Amino acid sequence: MDWSPQSWRTKPIQQQPRYADAEALSKVLARVKALPPLVDAGEADILRNHLAAAGRGEAFLLQGGDCAERFADCNRQAIEAKLKILMQMSLVLTWGARLPVIRVGRLAGQFAKPRSHDTETVDGVELPVYRGDLVNDIAQEAGARDADPRRLLEAYNHSTATLNYCRALLDGGFADLHHPDLWDLGFVRSSDNRAEYEDMVERILDAVDFVESTGVHGNDALRTVEFYSSHEGLHLAWEETMTDEDHGGWYNLGAHMVWLGDRTRQPDGAHVEYMRGIRNPIGIKIGPSMAADELSRLLDILNPDNTPGRITLISRLGSDAIGEKLPPLIESGRNRQVTWACDPMHGNTRTTDSGIKTRRFDDVQAELKAAFDVHDAAGSILGGVHFELTGEDVTECTGGPQELSEADLPRSYTTHCDPRLNYAQSLEMAFQLARRLQQRRHAST
Ligand code: PEP
Ligand code: CO
Repeated sequence: MDWSPQSWRTKPIQQQPRYADAEALSKVLARVKALPPLVDAGEADILRNHLAAAGRGEAFLLQGGDCAERFADCNRQAIEAKLKILMQMSLVLTWGARLPVIRVGRLAGQFAKPRSHDTETVDGVELPVYRGDLVNDIAQEAGARDADPRRLLEAYNHSTATLNYCRALLDGGFADLHHPDLWDLGFVRSSDNRAEYEDMVERILDAVDFVESTGVHGNDALRTVEFYSSHEGLHLAWEETMTDEDHGGWYNLGAHMVWLGDRTRQPDGAHVEYMRGIRNPIGIKIGPSMAADELSRLLDILNPDNTPGRITLISRLGSDAIGEKLPPLIESGRNRQVTWACDPMHGNTRTTDSGIKTRRFDDVQAELKAAFDVHDAAGSILGGVHFELTGEDVTECTGGPQELSEADLPRSYTTHCDPRLNYAQSLEMAFQLARRLQQRRHAST
């Protein structure tokens, strides 16, 4: 294979920052290159096998986290909140699906963002856009938006600290099923769902109790879980720096999984060239402009050996378009080894009359429901979900159990990019998904 970690440099490229000082950039990258990797190639191989199982309907992928991770959120409370919501959701899903849930965070490196425009005008002044904490500062002031190479070293440090603390929490029993905190249902206000959720939790605890009464008390399986990191592979000089040889192949050792964004998936482009040569499991975001033949071509390039688990196709088509757009894409993936997932967030972004970027909980829910329906009708398998969410009580998406309105949005709108489901909305989503997975399970038996 005529590929190297640098071969993307000969291809047309989108969405890259421009650094004023090329020498400063190479110095920082050399420094990062000398530091240890964040993950091990063996872990990426294990994740690939798990994702292959999800593609066959024998496991289910839960991928989620911030749209744009912030350096400021590399702190104890924020990391615990992110991990807690992902663990809670995964337990609820496991209960519904009776399948292993593969937990993949959008974290420990989700610091670079693709943007629709290179600049924005603030109070009559044109500024470069914010491209994520990896690149520049979100502040709307002169200089803040310059691409600063020192941020690359900071990103390495923040990713390492975040992943290290996640691993420590999980090893230390954070995901222990007996932990009462894990089951706090305070979020379900007046919802009819409360009784059903309480019943589900009671039955989960009862099942744990039953297993332990058979003598497997202290079983590690009930105390700890596997957890993986992922981010969009966008800033290619950065991703190249994270790339190294291991297990007889090349891996991106900055994350277990990386995905190709909807804006950078040109078959002849630099991002596809980069992704082609690494062995990590790869996600491909699929927006409404993806044509069926283009998807086939991408699959030829990115998975020529048809390795199971290598490719996760993450559709993000929007609740209105999914019914029409997804079926031909499913046909393109037919007879190929792919794992299908649904990102019900990115096709449902809208701007309120007062200019706030938001998403409606109902639209997110509708796209997910449609994804299950379309896959069922096509005899295909929805193997997972991909959410932008946070464990905190933010007000970025409307609707959900707290019935947030547009007027509520400014109260706690902290995202650096897209609106995320908050804690209550995320957990509600998990319960609804669990219900659907349970129906699917019953239908197949
Ligand atoms: C994202 O996941 O934050 C994102 C930019 O998604 P997409 O590439 O699907 O638009
Ligand atoms: Co986003």
